[in-house]
Amino acid sequence: MKRFIHNLPKVELHLHIEGSLEPELMFELAQRNQVAIPFSSPEEVREAYQFSNLQSFLDIYYQGARVLLHEQDFYDLTWAYLLRCQQDRVLHTEIFFDPQTHTERGIAFDTVIHGICRALAQGEQELGITSQLIMCFLRHLDEESAFATLQMAESHLDKIVAVGLDSSELGHPPEKFERVFARAQAMGLKTVAHAGEEGPSQNIKNAIELLGVSRVDHGVRCVDDPALVEQLSLSRMPLTVCPLSNIKLKVFETMDQHNLMQLLDQGLCVTINADDPAYFGGYMTDNFLAVAEALPMSKAQAAQLSLNAIEASFIDQQLKQKYSQLVTDYLNRCS
Ligand code: HPA
Ligand code: ZN
Repeated sequence: MKRFIHNLPKVELHLHIEGSLEPELMFELAQRNQVAIPFSSPEEVREAYQFSNLQSFLDIYYQGARVLLHEQDFYDLTWAYLLRCQQDRVLHTEIFFDPQTHTERGIAFDTVIHGICRALAQGEQELGITSQLIMCFLRHLDEESAFATLQMAESHLDKIVAVGLDSSELGHPPEKFERVFARAQAMGLKTVAHAGEEGPSQNIKNAIELLGVSRVDHGVRCVDDPALVEQLSLSRMPLTVCPLSNIKLKVFETMDQHNLMQLLDQGLCVTINADDPAYFGGYMTDNFLAVAEALPMSKAQAAQLSLNAIEASFIDQQLKQKYSQLVTDYLNRCS
């Protein structure tokens, strides 16, 4: 099973590029850019990654992003992530970036997006990994800041497929951004949102009804509302579940208590993703392995998780068919 998971073709739909900043690169960039960080070694950084909830993680995560200043830094960050994708047999990835984490520090929007996109273009050319970019609004900031960010994206609509919503869910429900999301949709962008990670199942309903999302990021709290679970199953509304993240942030106490296999069994379009791999201890393969070690998972179910991600992705039908064929051929060969 380990080898099967390792070589299984995968698609990632929930990855914060700033969350792929490994402590070694953080150190390198801190030196290169003369940014002071409160750690003396990458090991010390790793030891500090003990979180009690989402907010305790976010505080450290925004601190870490302070070493990112120049276009080259965003390129290096994204390229390092793509090399990990290659190791993990990720065919396609849809990555989040948080412009406000950078523009609030005086970094230009263009610096951020150009660095990321240069690496993504190279990833497609040299590694054959396709990708899309999703711009997230920080939900702890106000609507005005989100509107200003959306305006900055206007000259980059060829590079952005969707808008998303991340950061502190508690106290910042989806309805706070209903008007911004309507504007984004009018601009031709798709929408996704983090909902039902720490927040109540009502946030999942509101993300669907008020923000028009194509996918729900996390969404694991849907189990509190059986009618919602039924609706998610019937509509095949994708959930981008992040198992290692959920354990690190104490959404579930242990992996054997995680509900994703139960949701998969109920017909939901569940997918497995890494969220912030540098902070939560693993990339795509690690996440699949952690679930398969703690919960019963057959090869067919592992393949189904990949097929779900292809179905839930924003790629065109032709590419979906090609990638799905790779997964089913792989499953047939290995079983
Ligand atoms: N939840 C909310 N905001 C985030 C996350 C997350 O898991 N990762 C990065 N920003
Ligand atoms: Zn996330």
